[in-house]
Amino acid sequence: MNKNLRKAVIAGNWKMNNTPAQTKATISELAPMVAGKDGCEIVLCVPFVDIDAAVTAAKGTNIHIGAENVHFAPNGAFTGEVSAQMLCECGVEYVIVGHSERRQYFGETDVTVNLRAKAALAAGLKTIICVGELLAERKRGVTAELITMQTQTALLGISAEDLKNVIIAYEPVWAIGTGETATPEQAQEVCALVRSLVAEKYGKAAGDALTVQYGGSMNAKNAAELLAKEDVDGGLIGGASLKPADFTVIVDAAQA
Ligand code: PGA
Repeated sequence: MNKNLRKAVIAGNWKMNNTPAQTKATISELAPMVAGKDGCEIVLCVPFVDIDAAVTAAKGTNIHIGAENVHFAPNGAFTGEVSAQMLCECGVEYVIVGHSERRQYFGETDVTVNLRAKAALAAGLKTIICVGELLAERKRGVTAELITMQTQTALLGISAEDLKNVIIAYEPVWAIGTGETATPEQAQEVCALVRSLVAEKYGKAAGDALTVQYGGSMNAKNAAELLAKEDVDGGLIGGASLKPADFTVIVDAAQA
């Protein structure tokens, strides 16, 4: 394994926070704080209605804009959904699929996560696929099996070429929004497993090149020790991404 092969990706996941006006203000505050910090890729995934404001505010900065979900059909009778083409036309570069909140509250399954990922990749979007176990699953000792099934299903039918635009985020559900973070060792263990699954399917070079993020209460205090782990190539950050000062500390931790 060689961490130097991979650029860290620090991605904020704003979830259902910030209006367009707040988006503009937040990015205007953040942009000078992270300017020139090119040791990692900086991404903000924002609600659909904030995309326009975010893309405008981030123009000319090193902040890249992402969406938090995407539908798998190109168009059609899918009330409330948004297609990959729509996102691309709005200037979006990244998209999250399979976040645990989508799985828990909106009926997302491993199969629909795979469909959404394929649609996003076909449109050229960089796609952050989330996997992660529930606390009950960790307690039962089936974390590895669960992560294996989620990862393998998410990658069904995805070509080696498209894999170059895939990021996998390991987000233990019990650590999301709870203030309880996985230990660096726990994060490392599962991120390494994800990489090995990708290496098994696509070859060692593809595994070595894959960016694997950790997510789940990553914050200004714990980011450095998590990001220091060999197979942790970045973070998917919820709460702390809403505060420019905290998010900047995480970006700084990823510069090494
Ligand atoms: P959190 O969220 O950092 O607030 O735990 C992470 C995520 O859900 O991506």
